[in-house]
Amino acid sequence: LADGPLKGRHVVVTSGPTHEPIDPVRYIANRSSGKQGHAIAAALAALGARVTLVSGPVAQPDPPGVHVVRVESARDMLAAVQAALPADAAICAAAVADWRTAREASQKMKKVQGEAPPPLDLALNPDILATLAARGPHRPPLVVGFAAETEKVVDNAIAKRAKKGCDWIVANDVSGDVMGGPDNAVHLVTGTGVEDWPRLPKAEVARRLAARIATALNPESA
Ligand code: C5P
Repeated sequence: LADGPLKGRHVVVTSGPTHEPIDPVRYIANRSSGKQGHAIAAALAALGARVTLVSGPVAQPDPPGVHVVRVESARDMLAAVQAALPADAAICAAAVADWRTAREASQKMKKVQGEAPPPLDLALNPDILATLAARGPHRPPLVVGFAAETEKVVDNAIAKRAKKGCDWIVANDVSGDVMGGPDNAVHLVTGTGVEDWPRLPKAEVARRLAARIATALNPESA
């Protein structure tokens, strides 16, 4: 582990999409690349944190010095996050699928000539961020969520912070080429205000966020 202001701290980071199985060969997914979440895990480790990165299926390499737990579904991600607690901070950067199929077919679903397509019944997935942010003995002292918005980015992020019960929201406008792209333009919504950060490479957004987390966990050094 690196030396730095987060030495002795444990941070849990979620990253990537989740895959929600339909049958043994099909799943519901989304376009999250895991770039931002993995960069945050790397930046936290570079500041000395012990990092548990709970990642959905991504093509990103494991960040150096980070303990990576690979999962597929939202329910697996929640279980892995809870198993990793306690933590000093939790950063939920994963694009968790809102819905899973109500039932996973145990055999590959067959296409039958002349029959209507099968219905896809959906069930609501657990909200990992809201679960982590709920009051309780294992609530990390700092819980950070993300908000991907295409309109009223800051207003929606402020509302999301309240609804989820988390401490900070990193809000990004995903109407352009942010998802999967190299850069991110974010607003950091905290309990005391909103900061508009310039458009930066995702690695630089990660470094700035990690530095802010270090300051929040070590207020005496600010
Ligand atoms: O509700 P929405 O998906 O817009 O919230 C986004 C934030 O909530 C992100 O931080 C994401 O990681 C987290 N989230 C979660 N579990 C879910 C849905 C979202 O942790 N099931």
